Amino acid sequence: MAKIDNRNIESHLKEKRVFKPSREFARAARIKTLAQYQKMWRESIRSPEKFWAREAKELMWRAPWKKVLEWKPPFAKWFIGGKINLSENCLDRHLLTHRRNKAAIIWEGEPGEKRTLTYQQLHHEVCRFANVLKRNKIGKGDRVIIYLPTIPEAAIAMLACARIGAVHSVVFGGFSSDAIRDRIQDSGAVAVITADGSYRRGGIVPLKKNVDDALRERSTIKRVIVFRRTAADIHMEEGRDVWWHRELEYVNANCPPVALDSEHPLYILYTSGSTGKPKGILHTTAGYLLGIYATTKYVFDIRDEDIYWCTADVGWVTGHSYVVYGPLACGATTLMYEGAPNWPEPDRFWRIIEDHRVNILYTAPTAIRAFIRWGDEWVKKHDLSSLRLLGSVGEPINPEAWMWYQRTIGGGRCPVVDTWWQTETGCIMITPLPGAVPTKPGSATLPFFGVDPAIVDLSGKEVGPNVGGKLIIRKPWPSMLRTIYGDKERYKKQYWSEYPGNYLTGDGARRDEEGYFWIVGRIDDVLNVAGHRLGTSEIESALVSHARVAEAAVVGRPDELKGQGVVAFVTLKANVDPTAALKAELREHVGKHIGAIAKPDEVRFAEALPKTRSGKIMRRLLKELATGKTVTGDTTTLEDFSVLAKLSGAEE
Ligand code: WTA
Repeated sequence: MAKIDNRNIESHLKEKRVFKPSREFARAARIKTLAQYQKMWRESIRSPEKFWAREAKELMWRAPWKKVLEWKPPFAKWFIGGKINLSENCLDRHLLTHRRNKAAIIWEGEPGEKRTLTYQQLHHEVCRFANVLKRNKIGKGDRVIIYLPTIPEAAIAMLACARIGAVHSVVFGGFSSDAIRDRIQDSGAVAVITADGSYRRGGIVPLKKNVDDALRERSTIKRVIVFRRTAADIHMEEGRDVWWHRELEYVNANCPPVALDSEHPLYILYTSGSTGKPKGILHTTAGYLLGIYATTKYVFDIRDEDIYWCTADVGWVTGHSYVVYGPLACGATTLMYEGAPNWPEPDRFWRIIEDHRVNILYTAPTAIRAFIRWGDEWVKKHDLSSLRLLGSVGEPINPEAWMWYQRTIGGGRCPVVDTWWQTETGCIMITPLPGAVPTKPGSATLPFFGVDPAIVDLSGKEVGPNVGGKLIIRKPWPSMLRTIYGDKERYKKQYWSEYPGNYLTGDGARRDEEGYFWIVGRIDDVLNVAGHRLGTSEIESALVSHARVAEAAVVGRPDELKGQGVVAFVTLKANVDPTAALKAELREHVGKHIGAIAKPDEVRFAEALPKTRSGKIMRRLLKELATGKTVTGDTTTLEDFSVLAKLSGAEE
């Protein structure tokens, strides 16, 4: 058996294409040249406190801070002594300007309703709902579960909590009652805000029933506030459940924002941990607000006249930072869409872009690959000329998917910002700035201001160009998580123990000779084939570059000779026959693009891949399938259970 070298993750995929920002785009952008970006970045790293203090002055403060940063690794405090309110920054601040009558939220429901809320209207609704919370004895520091679809009320509920200092924990509307129960238990929440149901692919998801099931056992929940979305028939528990619209009858719209400490907890968002027990990532007020404000401003180069659309669900961090808080903090117009991308037909996104004249689109590689699979004819039906900037987040974007996005959606005219970040980081960390940084398909390019990433080997030594390793962040940043809720030890161990003083991202990456970052996926997913450590994303990208492949997921399985063998699950484009010849061809294709070492030992065709609703492929489940076992691990975050049944029962 070959000797295993655990030191380096090898990286074989070489991408040569480079796209410079157009002169026109650069001229109008905040950051106009690579040199300007580099200068600002160097300054921000030399004196991060100065950089962040300057940005923070653009926000509205109730009391000035005394000290920018207190860093007692691994615990950071930002803007100590300052008092601030996030909802005031997202709403009241704009009422003093020309923005007060501009659209804050444009919403489209899955069945097709449209609603617009101006900044004044949104402010009015948030104040009223904040008074509903107070009326129901919810106050500063109380934890509140929000279990709603992507409707304006989700944003209203979040902002209302922020206004009074209650700590929200949004639970994705596709999660089951077990997930709600676990999160209530861990957070000790006192209230749930939900709806009678939500629309998904024409059906109704029984949100309220899921909440009822979660509350079967004794819990800390005293109040459930129910928004009427579908008029579905539901149970209302006397003494516990109240209707959102009825409650509004008892309140007025006078609700001054509470001056909160900079470090007051803002929200807890649960992400799945490797052990299966979800981790409650805790974000606090001022630093988080500053991070999402600065990144929305520079990365999307957002303008007052833009219509900006981030397609994420409010239930995951992208929905928090870049559907709700970031754009509203910038006084922008944010579009929210409730439903599925292929409802009623696979052109829903393009129809929305044409109807609302969307200028900035921020979506995920998983969606992009699905659109490629559904075929270009759906895109061609619509006029997408209003788009000026495209963004991607959530997974490494395969170079071929990047190219398709840039050409077919962006018409070759729009910069593509591939943004790397995590629930834990709160805001975008590695990303091109669209007017300044030339892009390479598949690379998240360079760090954002104040972010100091490095790639290190096992001993913590920084590796040279094009050598793979672990991605760490060497300096604290304002929007970083403060802890795992209720579990400081786990926070220390998970993120800070491997390289003390440095934040461990859990991702593998390499930097090329120009310092560009290429994320190769989660470290846990790295394969070890005959002593070569290969990132799954590179093999997947090689497969996706084949004309007949829509999507691929690669996992390892134990192999006596090589340590690990490579198994590829492949989804083909529409109307492609799954033949044995094609399997052989795909193996050769990977051999040609990466090298013989990466050739899959087995290729399996799959109708669909198991994913979380935020679009990440659940390789853990595929690994179990690849080893011939049935799936036993935690599947509560799986989007579509039928996928698993199909995979395990499927061919071969
Ligand atoms: C992955 C989502 C490559 C990565 C904001 C990270 C990415 C995890 C990218 C966090 C990207 C996210 N390129 N990989 N542009 N963006 N990831 O917490 O593995 O849902 O650690 O936050 O997604 O996922 P999370």
